[in-house]
Amino acid sequence: MTYMPSTPTLCRDGDTALILDQTQLPYRTEVRRLRTLDDVATAIRTMQVRGAPLIGATAAYGVAIALLDDASNARLAHALETLAATRPTAVNLHWALARMRAKLQPLAVAQRRAAAWLEADAIRAEDCATCTAIGQRGLALLHDIAARRPGPVRIMTHCNAGALATLGSGTALAPVYAAHISGIDVHVWVSETRPRNQGLLTAWELREAGVPHSLIADNAAGILMARGDVDIVITGADRVAANGDSANKVGTYLKALAARDNGLPFYIAVPLTTVDFDCPDGTRIPIEDRGADEVCSITGLSAHDQTMSLRLALAGTSAPNPAFDITPARLITGIITEQGIVTPARLRELQRETTT
Ligand code: MRU
Repeated sequence: MTYMPSTPTLCRDGDTALILDQTQLPYRTEVRRLRTLDDVATAIRTMQVRGAPLIGATAAYGVAIALLDDASNARLAHALETLAATRPTAVNLHWALARMRAKLQPLAVAQRRAAAWLEADAIRAEDCATCTAIGQRGLALLHDIAARRPGPVRIMTHCNAGALATLGSGTALAPVYAAHISGIDVHVWVSETRPRNQGLLTAWELREAGVPHSLIADNAAGILMARGDVDIVITGADRVAANGDSANKVGTYLKALAARDNGLPFYIAVPLTTVDFDCPDGTRIPIEDRGADEVCSITGLSAHDQTMSLRLALAGTSAPNPAFDITPARLITGIITEQGIVTPARLRELQRETTT
């Protein structure tokens, strides 16, 4: 048994895809229909869909949608190029597009349309199963903590690496759901994750699943660790380099530093599709800058329950906005994957073991 959100993050409906529009959460549940390549590219770029595995699967459906009326080589190349340009950091996007290319390019044009939908469906189903496996692997860690001390297992996470970021129960949150379902008492510290506040998405889905949690300001993470209120930190990642350096939502690095200073275990939970073995270390991971507006303004609900945006900083304020940071491998206790939990140094061995 595993947790699934009541509204799927992404599903196929005939020759279109339906997405849960995450720019409207946690205030409104709105489903959008993607009918064209442009719809899909916009949904990824504007973060209506977000989270590394979900971005990858959405792009795969984008290829299928793009080929509906023209499956020529030129159209395929255009679709792959358009979707690859939407967001740079999450390697799952590029992995999914490479998989679609490898599947479709050798086929006759007439066969590509049906094959594209089948491949996108397969990526979607595989991610769901992978999340469940990550949950079971990570459950062992939470089970050990529960066995060592009374009271709830206190997990800190960052951003949203839950069901909303995937096609299943998430990556970092999959062990949390597995523990909750198996009767282990858990409590999740959810950091708000400025500037996009993906922590609100995490709080939304934990609330939906009935998992106890508290929202904290990003800057409160250190004091909670220092006070002894945290047992373990688990986050997701958008790209893990071959040496284990991991890119995740900006602020992850600071949590890893604080965890190390307080002697706490810091884990990254990822599908193996997030590991980029062609990327030697974190310095080679492209970091997206999403522009000053996200830093200078904030979105919330008005007194009349209308979603609205407020400007925080004065117009013209310089506000660099790196959306991700790199947590060096030396700060990572372990990487939870669907194939097992390994230290960063053992990633390559795990790859060899699972591909032979
Ligand atoms: O910018 P986002 O919201 O797409 O970033 C998402 C993250 O950083 C997640 O932690 C990561 O993709 C892991 S998702 C399972």
